[in-house]
Amino acid sequence: MKLLDRLPKNPWATRQPGRTVLDTAGALPLDTSHGPVLYLEGVSVSFDGFKALNDLTLDIDEGELRCIIGPNGAGKTTMMDVITGKTRPDSGQVFFGQLIDLLQLSEHEIAQGGIGRKFQKPTVFEMLTVTENLELAMASDKSVWASLFFKLSSEQRDRIDEVLELIRLSSLRQQSAGALSHGQKQWLEIGMLLMQNPRVLLVDEPVAGMTHEETERTAELLLSLAGRHSVIVVEHDMAFVRSIARKVTVLHQGSVLAEGSMDEIQANPKVVEVYLGE
Ligand SMILES: Nc1ncnc2c1ncn2[C@@H]1O[C@H](COP(=O)(O)OP(=O)(O)OP(=O)(O)O)[C@@H](O)[C@H]1O
Ligand SMILES: [Mg+2]
Repeated sequence: MKLLDRLPKNPWATRQPGRTVLDTAGALPLDTSHGPVLYLEGVSVSFDGFKALNDLTLDIDEGELRCIIGPNGAGKTTMMDVITGKTRPDSGQVFFGQLIDLLQLSEHEIAQGGIGRKFQKPTVFEMLTVTENLELAMASDKSVWASLFFKLSSEQRDRIDEVLELIRLSSLRQQSAGALSHGQKQWLEIGMLLMQNPRVLLVDEPVAGMTHEETERTAELLLSLAGRHSVIVVEHDMAFVRSIARKVTVLHQGSVLAEGSMDEIQANPKVVEVYLGE
């Protein structure tokens, strides 16, 4: 059944499990005027009796850049899997704005609805140019040939130029993506996500395998995205986290151990014991 058909007709529905409302244009109508853009409450996920997430409660504000850190197995990737609909929790609530119950939507609907996710391994089309990759990401019809030959509006061309600037690949726009460095491929993939203009962007370990210079550029890129998008970054590289950190959340054994500025986190004895002291 189509997303629209599954939705209640009452546009005044407030936050209740199982309720999602679309506006007349079919876009997900995000109401973030009284609350966070993303809200998880009491979320638990178990795998064979092991609790990967354990009563996790977390909220993300509109436009914020949030770093999530924590030891291996803390549940960071699982949290992203839950937000993007890849994994369904055993219990808890996950809301996008006030009204949109993400647990009612498919992975595809969540991605279309404005939550973009960058996986660790870049998945760019190597035989296409940088620009073609961005065009493809923008197209609603994902057939490669249909999108390569559709005519871009001037607005779409402007958006491509803007994203090329942001990801610093303007001068390489005609180069095939296969010839890019590892770091440049990662930026291109972020650029592809940006073509969909997501409200929320999830990035899991973005600087793994990058050179020092690429890592610094990635920090600048993510900082420049905050404000216009809410960005959630999971990363183990503490120097990198420090360079972009605003509010930091420490996950441990599937729940929030601590939250605060980088200085507060680093001074927190519980955090030092389970993570930073390693
Ligand atoms: N599909 C799965 N089946 C079984 N166990 C899983 C599955 N996915 C995750 N887990 C387990 O859940 C726990 C949390 O894993 P998760 O990948 O979320 O941790 P993480 O915080 O991302 O760790 P890392 O920093 O190593 O990436 C781990 O013990 C992991 O082995
Ligand atoms: Mg992980």
